Amino acid sequence: MKQAREQWTSKIGFILAAAGSAVGLGAVWRLPYVAGTNGGGAFFLIFLLFTLLLGTSLLLAEFIIGRKTQKDPISAFKELAPNSSWYLIGVLGVISCCLILSFYSVVGGWIVTYLLRSIFGGLTGRSSEEYSELFASIISNPWEVGAAHLVFIIITILVVQNGIQKGIERASTIMMPLLFIIFLLLVVRAVTLDGAMEGISFFLLPDFSQVTGETILFALGQAFFSLSLGVSIMITYSSYLSKQDSLIHSAGSVVGLGILISFLAGLAIFPGVFAFGLQPDEGPSLIFTVLPAVFSEIAFGGLFLSLFLMLLLFATLTSAFSLLEIVVTTAAKNNKQLRKKTAWIAGLAVFLLGIPSNLSFGLLADWDVFGDIFFNQIDFLVSNVLLPLGALLISIFVPLKMKKAELKNELLSGSSLHSRYFSTWYFLLKYVTPIAIAAAMLNVLGVL
Ligand code: TRP
Repeated sequence: MKQAREQWTSKIGFILAAAGSAVGLGAVWRLPYVAGTNGGGAFFLIFLLFTLLLGTSLLLAEFIIGRKTQKDPISAFKELAPNSSWYLIGVLGVISCCLILSFYSVVGGWIVTYLLRSIFGGLTGRSSEEYSELFASIISNPWEVGAAHLVFIIITILVVQNGIQKGIERASTIMMPLLFIIFLLLVVRAVTLDGAMEGISFFLLPDFSQVTGETILFALGQAFFSLSLGVSIMITYSSYLSKQDSLIHSAGSVVGLGILISFLAGLAIFPGVFAFGLQPDEGPSLIFTVLPAVFSEIAFGGLFLSLFLMLLLFATLTSAFSLLEIVVTTAAKNNKQLRKKTAWIAGLAVFLLGIPSNLSFGLLADWDVFGDIFFNQIDFLVSNVLLPLGALLISIFVPLKMKKAELKNELLSGSSLHSRYFSTWYFLLKYVTPIAIAAAMLNVLGVL
């Protein structure tokens, strides 16, 4: 007998899981470091614009495909465009997810190490220089970061092998609001540091003389990365959604949360960077040197730091679950036994794939891969090439292969919104999105 497909027990469960996928290291770790190396305020403004215009319309496009077909991405594309190669968008998504998880889990491991050290070793009370040295010594020690990396992957596998609802839905309802509260506390302390103003203006006042084609491509990549777009993850999640749920409201909540956390992350970090005399363009280590120093300036800072790291670890894990989930759903469909097996095989393969990224800061620091370390190149390939490419293909696919009336029906089903929302969305998806993505990519290649 065919098993009935599970559905989300509530709309809020879906939003939390989709937001759980979106909100993670992308907003908290990646946004500040990429903004820091790409000019600050102007980068953030362009990122906001891309998130609101392109991000929201793509998110809705993925939601529509998922809810309409109620299938995993590859089968969904096959159903909508039979006997064609469009299903390769789903294949590209699965490959991208494996590549993302390979370095995402390395940074997840750094959080694990920091959390353990903050609990057992006391991480507060040092100067920002000492934090730089400490972090450099941690990430160059292959055994410590290797073990932490493995721990992170194993937690991800254990949760994903047990299935979508049980694993993800429940805990988000407590952890996400807590993370938000502690972030507020951190921001309040950061913006009241002596010399905070310079950091606030670096982050919020755009200086357009800093903008290059690369800045724009990075902002685009960051917008997709932080909403988990372009890899069919949101197709997978929304395939569990019922027709009564409003896609537009759900997309609004996910985008709103993503922007809010990115904004708070910038405000928590840049004031500290300038107040402590650090450089904003330090790269992937940025939050690991700045945040503990800000916590050291708060009463009971050690305690708050541990709590913060624990919540950040949770947010990171919920994103990692989504990355592994898509691989597992695609390969195992609804077969429970196969699910367990694929979770382990895919998870461990991704761990192996992540080892060179992990060693990029230590043993392999001198390995020059086309002019940069392996870690940065994988991140670049995924975020600035594969995600925009996946997004571009989806924005071409939907208007081309799905009927307008069908799209309108699906977009507005479950919501009481007026149909002019549909026209705006359709215009953004069909024209603005593909042109903007193609222009950003061609520009960096020197074609435009
Ligand atoms: N969006 C997550 C974050 O910001 C990371 C992530 C999860 C992701 N799934 C993704 C990024 C899919 C790109 C594509 O931390």
